[in-house]
Amino acid sequence: MTENLETMQVNALKQIKESQSLKELEDVRVQYLGKKGELTAVLKQMGKLTPDERKIMGQMGNITRDAIVNAIAEMTAILKADEIKQKLSSEWLDVTLPGKKPSFGKKHPISLVLDDIIEIFTGMGFSIADGREIETVYYNFDALNSPPNHPSRDEQDTFYITDNVLLRCHTSAEQIRVMEKTTPPLRIISPGKVYRSDAVDATHSPLFQQIEGLVVDKNVTFAQLKGTLQTFAKRLYGENTHVRFRPHHFPFTEPSAEMDIVCFSCEGNGCNVCKGEGFIEILGAGVVHPQVLKNCGINPDEYSGFAFGMGLERIVMKRYNINDIRLLYENDLRFLKQFS
Ligand code: DAH
Repeated sequence: MTENLETMQVNALKQIKESQSLKELEDVRVQYLGKKGELTAVLKQMGKLTPDERKIMGQMGNITRDAIVNAIAEMTAILKADEIKQKLSSEWLDVTLPGKKPSFGKKHPISLVLDDIIEIFTGMGFSIADGREIETVYYNFDALNSPPNHPSRDEQDTFYITDNVLLRCHTSAEQIRVMEKTTPPLRIISPGKVYRSDAVDATHSPLFQQIEGLVVDKNVTFAQLKGTLQTFAKRLYGENTHVRFRPHHFPFTEPSAEMDIVCFSCEGNGCNVCKGEGFIEILGAGVVHPQVLKNCGINPDEYSGFAFGMGLERIVMKRYNINDIRLLYENDLRFLKQFS
């Protein structure tokens, strides 16, 4: 039996020395010292021996086990060091390589201009009202005093989801929601997306954005509306900007007007940007119709208001001299990278 142990030790040490990896080494350990290992099996037989034999075999068994355990420990250290060496030589890093610059995103031109517009109006005491894009016929048309036969109600102009639910075709719907839940005085702007059943071309998109404005208080006048919008135009386009108001019709305002600015391209002489007019229309506005106030539970004998609505893309296109609205929605990075 002692010879048996000696041979086992010689074999084990040889296998340990020849191990090429930590995995192989672990296999050798299990082969001899594991629960079903060869040395473990021999030691399990010890109970059958006489006390004298057991003493000798016990000592021999310990010596063999210690020899194997120590050899494994030594080999583990060597293999680990080898592994680190190999890693160091294969995973080296060239610290002299030039670094890659991270590319940062920029704000979309629509967001840049919207930020400016919001800043101008909040500077004048307006707060922001968030509107919803899916509306009912009531908020989009009825409450705004739009007659049942108004052309904008036609399915050719407005996207209907059901007979009664639609994608809002203007941010004016938000006026009603704000007036319903706020007791005057109130002063808000409400930017957001609107939808119209238009074919896409250089100046039309079925989705575009508007900014609605609404002021309701005692003694609000058309003169205040003009002053507010003139101030807005000067802040957005520069102190020398000239505006003009033309009479117009909207069902929800009376009187109503459209505001033009002097053409930024020809400064009023007439060119193809302004189609020879010298002016470019940028918004619709007016004094809130008494019926609209009534629809929202506001007494028109006590309160009056003014409202306006402008198209955001138009203002962006004018600001940056962009001649095709599609550029704003195609997400071409070569185009978008030009703005900051
Ligand atoms: N809702 C109108 C449109 O989409 C724009 C507008 C005109 C809004 C006059 C107003 C207003 O608040 O008073 O064409």
